[in-house]
Amino acid sequence: MNLRTFARISIWASMLGVSFVGCSGSNAEPDESNEPGTRTQAALTEETPFTNPLRIPPVMARSSTAGAAAATLAAYNLTIKTGTAQMRTGNPTPIVGFDGIFPGPTLVVERGETTTVTQTNAWTENVTIHNHGHKVAAESDGHPVDYITPGSSKVYTYPNDQPAGTFWYHDHTMDLTGAHVYNGLAGFYIIHDAAEDALNLPSGNYDIPLLLQDKQFNADNTLTYTSQVGGFLGNTPVVNGVANAVHNVANRKYRLRLLNGSDVRLWNLQLRAGTTPQTFQVISSDGGLLQAPVSTTSLSIAPGERYDIVVDFAPHAVGTSLSLFNTDATAPAISTLMQFTVDRTETDTSAVPSALASIRRYTEAESTGSANITLAFANGNWQLNGLTYDPARIDITSPSNAVRIWTLTNNSGAMHPFHKHLVEFNVLDINGQPPPAHENGLKDTIQVPGRGTVRIIFKNEGFTGTYVFHCHRLGHEDHRMMLQESVTP
Ligand code: C2O
Ligand code: CU
Repeated sequence: MNLRTFARISIWASMLGVSFVGCSGSNAEPDESNEPGTRTQAALTEETPFTNPLRIPPVMARSSTAGAAAATLAAYNLTIKTGTAQMRTGNPTPIVGFDGIFPGPTLVVERGETTTVTQTNAWTENVTIHNHGHKVAAESDGHPVDYITPGSSKVYTYPNDQPAGTFWYHDHTMDLTGAHVYNGLAGFYIIHDAAEDALNLPSGNYDIPLLLQDKQFNADNTLTYTSQVGGFLGNTPVVNGVANAVHNVANRKYRLRLLNGSDVRLWNLQLRAGTTPQTFQVISSDGGLLQAPVSTTSLSIAPGERYDIVVDFAPHAVGTSLSLFNTDATAPAISTLMQFTVDRTETDTSAVPSALASIRRYTEAESTGSANITLAFANGNWQLNGLTYDPARIDITSPSNAVRIWTLTNNSGAMHPFHKHLVEFNVLDINGQPPPAHENGLKDTIQVPGRGTVRIIFKNEGFTGTYVFHCHRLGHEDHRMMLQESVTP
């Protein structure tokens, strides 16, 4: 990190009440061990009861639609600016957000319609905006140094030529993604398609996006964030920007679109009635529907990952409260993220069919090339293939329209959620074993266990150019655990 960058961060940080901790230069890996000195953290201050109404981000109105042609164009305009969000009781919390709100407005589009999003930077910092999980041209991918400078605008074009699913748009600025996302630059981007619509899954008011994060509040409700090589762990859960949130539900099925937008925190989720974990169904992974629903009582979700689940509240009497509960013990431990209270009866005509989608899968036999990527901690920083990110360097070249296998070998003790841009991949195996059913669909982010190995298979297609791949623990990413791939014709 050069001094200019540090000065820039410090100036910005002082405006939003953020402190900055550079990397210590220590060779001790700052991962799950949580040694004092590698990570600043506060004691847990989880509050009860859960009485703040859940915020559902508004669906963004299109500024124009043109005709009913095959590729209808929808245009959106968003302004990046400071604002406030009521995150808990007391003062509203200063944020920087899309249109000044947090989470940003939800964009809902149909598969195959092209959208343009004009992002205007009315803030004081450089930004760059990435649609996570979208197959887009490199110029619209939010490359880490493809800045929208203060006072300027950029038009991003999204073909939405991929299956229905839960995606998200967020800042991707080199060295500052963690701070920018933490302070508010994140929103949902949902693709619908006819095949999914035909399934009659819970929809409308029964289809709810949930952005799961941990924050740390000061007494005046401003936020604290420190950019550190081990990543930042907050002590207070917020869902869609609300601490101690509750959502009233009918006794019927709901689709919950879970997104882990935390800096580094892994959530091991359960839905509990009292202390009893309830069964729910996982219906989709990062890139869209699974082949079939997966019934489970727990689900692990790492930063960057999305899973849609269907929860049936029908077995619960009116008046029952259920907790979205985290069993991961990382300190400061957070147990309940939010609650649902069944407050009414309703009839339910939605369904969860036993067959959801046919998944595009590549096989090892189709692969015409491979690469090895190591994940490690050395010389005070995270590394991929022994390197830290340099936007001027190409690290891997791969031809488009060719099936590739990447072997991800984790030589560190920490789990790293590995994220590749441009296309969704399939997981071939995890530590030599076939992936569990919920990871056996379309993925763009995969947990590589500590000391573990994961093989992914994909075909770059649609676009050529320079795309990054990185750890999605944002503190790791900002400490340059990122490389770039040149996708060639
Ligand atoms: Cu969600 Cu490269 O990012
Ligand atoms: Cu990492």
